[in-house]
Amino acid sequence: MHPFEYSPVAPTPDAFKTLYDTTGWGPTSREASYYAGALAGSWCVQAAYCDGQLVGFARVISDGHLHAFITEMIVHPGYQRRGVGAHMLSSLLAACHEAGISDIQLLSARGKAAFYQRHGFVPRPQEGPGMQFVAALCG
Ligand SMILES: CC(C)(COP(=O)(O)OP(=O)(O)OC[C@H]1O[C@@H](n2cnc3c(N)ncnc32)[C@H](O)[C@@H]1OP(=O)(O)O)[C@@H](O)C(=O)NCCC(=O)NCCS
Repeated sequence: MHPFEYSPVAPTPDAFKTLYDTTGWGPTSREASYYAGALAGSWCVQAAYCDGQLVGFARVISDGHLHAFITEMIVHPGYQRRGVGAHMLSSLLAACHEAGISDIQLLSARGKAAFYQRHGFVPRPQEGPGMQFVAALCG
């Protein structure tokens, strides 16, 4: 029997923080409440549980029509390479497709591009690369 249970409901900020802190992405000194608004503002969420513990999370930020951005794809290190990431990503993509959203983007972490390519993503073309704002470079 598959040991994982999936939910379209956002986890508690405490559970999310515990999982998020396994990634090394942000300062672990942040309070769990820091993430509450972000979770609530998600358009679509996938949470994966094993024996009641949050072991996977991924979400979509979207206007629900034109654009979708998949972010915070996280599987706990102890549960990776067991198909959890693939399951969550497929579910999020299905929700985007169902809503008719064709522009689905994400930023791939180092070493994860092949994983996303196996799920239908391609790098953006050089003539239209992704960019991000850096305040220190402005004015
Ligand atoms: C990226 C990430 C979410 C993938 O989650 P995951 O649950 O490990 O993903 P899957 O198990 O579906 O697939 C991962 C690999 O395991 C393989 N795999 C899946 N089930 C397997 C099994 N039962 N046995 C062996 N390998 C398996 C898949 O083929 C896949 O291989 P690939 O990477 O060569 O494509 C996870 O590595 C992670 O959380 N990393 C840290 C945070 C991060 O970098 N997130 C990405 C942000 S862009």
